[in-house]
Order: sequence, then structure tokens, then C-alpha cells
Amino acid sequence: MSLLFILLLTIISMIFFISRFGGKPYPPGPRRLPVIGNTLMMACLTHRGLAKLASRYGGLFYLRMGAQDIVVVSTPDMARQILQTHQDQISNRPTSIALDYLSYGRANMAFADYSPWWRQMRKICVMKLFSRARVESWNSVRDELNHMLRDVASNANQAINLGELVFGFTEKIIYRAAFGSRLSDGGTEFIKIMQEFSKLFGSFNVCDFVPWMSRADPQGLKARLRKARGSLDTFIDSIIDQHIIKRKGKNIGDKDMVDELLAFYTEEGEAKAESDDLQATIKLTKNNIKGIIMDIMFGGTETVAAAIEWAMSELLKNPEELRKTQEELSNVVGLHRCVEEGDLEKLTYLKCVLKETLRLHPPLPFLPRAAAEDVYVAGYYIPAGSRVIINLWAMGHDGKCWNDEPEAFKPSRFLDVGAPDYRNNNFEFIPFGTGRRSCPGMQLGLHAFEMGLAHLLHCFNWELPDGMKPSQVDMSDMYGLSAPKATRLIAVPTPRLLCPIC
Ligand code: HEM
Repeated sequence: MSLLFILLLTIISMIFFISRFGGKPYPPGPRRLPVIGNTLMMACLTHRGLAKLASRYGGLFYLRMGAQDIVVVSTPDMARQILQTHQDQISNRPTSIALDYLSYGRANMAFADYSPWWRQMRKICVMKLFSRARVESWNSVRDELNHMLRDVASNANQAINLGELVFGFTEKIIYRAAFGSRLSDGGTEFIKIMQEFSKLFGSFNVCDFVPWMSRADPQGLKARLRKARGSLDTFIDSIIDQHIIKRKGKNIGDKDMVDELLAFYTEEGEAKAESDDLQATIKLTKNNIKGIIMDIMFGGTETVAAAIEWAMSELLKNPEELRKTQEELSNVVGLHRCVEEGDLEKLTYLKCVLKETLRLHPPLPFLPRAAAEDVYVAGYYIPAGSRVIINLWAMGHDGKCWNDEPEAFKPSRFLDVGAPDYRNNNFEFIPFGTGRRSCPGMQLGLHAFEMGLAHLLHCFNWELPDGMKPSQVDMSDMYGLSAPKATRLIAVPTPRLLCPIC
């Protein structure tokens, strides 16, 4: 009887395999087991794990996890194919149960499928939320920076948790740009909810790959997501309602991001044909607004904080690079005043430090895409619905792209004529993505990163605590929605300027 059962199972598996994979030129990849495919390799789905697999299977390889087709891209040539040549077919975002909860059922911009509706939403965000003209966002960087520097100054000559400090700094910038008020005690509740979502994103949820298990929720993750969403709703609903009341007054004063979005608010929400008059053509529901706010909070907080913490860690690990960067600040700015926005253009080496940090430690190590239809890339078949993962981390560490010691922190590589820049379509260096789904917050993110780092380095000298040697700085990373340091950076500041701090 059991022999018959095994025989039947083998035949069914073979029929499934032949009907699914037979004849189609799928990209290469590790051998798949019948029915479960590569599900046992789930632990490899991190930026480091996938980079290792790429060194064996090449720049475009295929995995099948449960019911999900996954295509991994790890070379600039293949990234160009996906992000440029085939962007019409591969511009959707993959989804997951956690994302569905956070994005209000994909009512947001970051995870909505590519469509006329998404284009309208993106236009609103670019023009109304991220433009240089939205003074309030840029002011919040300056103001919160001053608060952070005063915090550091009041703890001078002591070991401080610099990682925690910069995370607090970026949370405050983005919170203020979004909601118009400073992060107070009520706001820390909101940060706790965000942290819970962040943890839930980082957790591997078996139901994402085996959907029929979803109802059973074997890991209890759905229950936690439901609870986190409930708390989030209570918090954001009350903020939106306060803004709606404020809008009924005649003069609403400085506009924060919620005010900008409420200009498009309707109870029902509907997308219409494209036109240049945005307000006449698109309406946003409360869920759209809440989804976009979460895009901004998640997109803007961890990314900038992780970048600053990684840059400071690399500089403390490489004292000669720290010396060169501070020397440039002394020469350009002088020790009698703080850095001003007008100085940034002249800080060439600092800009190289930013780029080298984003090369080695891209805050978002993957660009996530999904194929809307069957497509052939470089002769390989990618079925509709596949998750396409572009592994930025792998390209940043690849000796074929960066032949001068790819693992070393060498900002000077970006001084070379023709070195990659954020916008010149060098697919080996795209920390903000590229193409139609690229980061709309790039200018604001770079500004906060550059201002934060310049001030920390100009106002203070930094040392490692307790006689720790530079080689002992822990550079391991975590894997979740973003890739921050696994352990927070602890360092000792001493005042460097000949004048009081800002
Ligand atoms: C150092 C800072 C930052 C880095 C490295 C970064 C990186 C990225 C990357 C790699 C993507 C995906 C792009 C793609 O798929 O092609 C992205 C998307 C996005 N980022 Fe950023 N980001 C940063 C700062 C910000 C800030 C400050 C905000 C908002 C305040 C923001 C908002 C977004 C949003 C809303 C998206 C989704 C865009 C879409 O799908 O249309 N980011 N970011």
C-alpha cells in the first residue's frame, strides 16, 4: 500500500515538474526538489546568502520557494536588463502578508502595482512631498540636527550610543516633516509600533511561500500584525482627524505632509485619467494617505540612520580616512563655526565618504520587483508573478565591478574621473534604485545624511571606548526590510570647535 502511495506521489511530482518546467529556458539555479523546489534553502534569502549563490549560478539565477518563483539579479548587466530594457514588464512590487498590513492592502505608493493610478500617486508625492520647495522638510533636518548636537555636547568625553542617537535624529526629522509637530511622548508610542512592524518584516513568514497555511497562522505572525495595525490606526486616524479640523480654519500656516495629502482627500477615493491638473484628476482615501505616510516613515527613517551609523563605523575603523575627512572640514569650514548648507558643495571628500558607505552598506540591500507578465530576459524565461530581487549588496562587493580591493573602505575611488555617480546609470552603484520605481526621497535622504555626518565630524572628535582597537569595531549587519548594523556603535565625543555649538 505504502509503496503504491510513494509511486503515485512520484508520478504526480514528475507530471507537475514536466508540465511546469518542461521546455522553458528557466535561468540556472540550485537543483529543485519535487513539489517543494528550493524551500529548504529559505535561510539563504539574505543579501549575503544570495550573493554566495550568485558566485555559483551567475548574474541571473532562479529559485522556487513553495509556490513562489524567485529570480535573483547580481550583476550590473542583468540589472540593466531588468531596470531598463524590461521595465515595462517588471515594474510591480512583490507583496507579503506583513506588507499588506502596513500598506493598508497596498493602498500606498511604494507597494502599489505599476499602473496609471500609481503614476498619479507618484506625481503627487514627487511634486508635493519631496520637492525642494517643501521648506518644512528641510527645516526639520536643520532644527533636529541642532537638538542632536546639543545632546552629544552634553555627554562629551563619555561613551555614548551613537547608533541610537542617529536613529532618534532621523525618526524626529521624518516625524516632523510628516506630521508637523515635534516627536513627543505620544510620538514614542508611534515609534514603538514602527519598530514592531520592522521586526515583523524581518521575520520569515512561511505563509508568504505556502499560502494555504495562512489561515492557520502557525507562527502567530498574523495575530501580531493585526494588533500592530490596530494600534497604528488609532494613532494615525487621530492625527489625520486633527489635520482635517485644522483645514476647516481659514489659514493653516506651514503645511506638513499630511496637509499636502489632505488636499487630495475624498471619502471614496478614485483614480481618473491622467492630466496635468493633479487636484482635478486624483482623489486619495484615508487609507491611501495612511499608506503613503507609512512609506515615508519607513522609507526615510531607517535608511538615513543606517547610512550615518555605517559611515561613522567605517571612519572609526579606518582612522586615516577619518583624519582626511575632518581635515577637509577644517580647511573648507574652519574651526570657528559650524557647517552651513552652502559649504556642502565644497566638501568633495565627504561626498566620496557618503558614496563609499552606500556602496558597501546599501541601507536597502535589495530592489524588489515583480513580473507583471511572462518575459524573456537575456534568453531566460521569467514567469508572470515572479519576485525579482536585484541584489545591490552583491554588486557593491563584486570584485569584477570594483577591482581595487572591493571589501576595503576607500572613499578616494569615487574621486576618479568617470567614477559612478547616483544618476549616471552605472548599474553597479544604484543605492537609490533607478528607473520608474527609484527613490523619490533621494534628495531629502542625501541632504539629511550629508548634514548629519558633516556636523558630527566637524563639531566633535571621536574615539572608540575602553581602549577598543579600530579592527575590533563590529561590522556585522542585520537583515530585515533594511540592513542596519547588528550592534549599535558606541563612541566617545570630545568638542572640536573653537566656538559654542550651533
Ligand atoms: C540614504 C537614504 C535613502 C536610501 C539609500 C533610499 C533607498 C531607496 C531604494 C533603494 C528604494 C527602492 C528603489 C527601487 O526599487 O528602484 C527606495 C524607494 C523609496 N524610498 Fe528611499 N531611500 C532613502 C531615503 C528616503 C527618504 C528620506 C524617503 C522619504 C522621506 C524615502 C522614500 C522612499 C519611497 C516612498 C520609496 C518607494 C518608491 C516607489 O516605489 O515608487 N527614501 N528608497
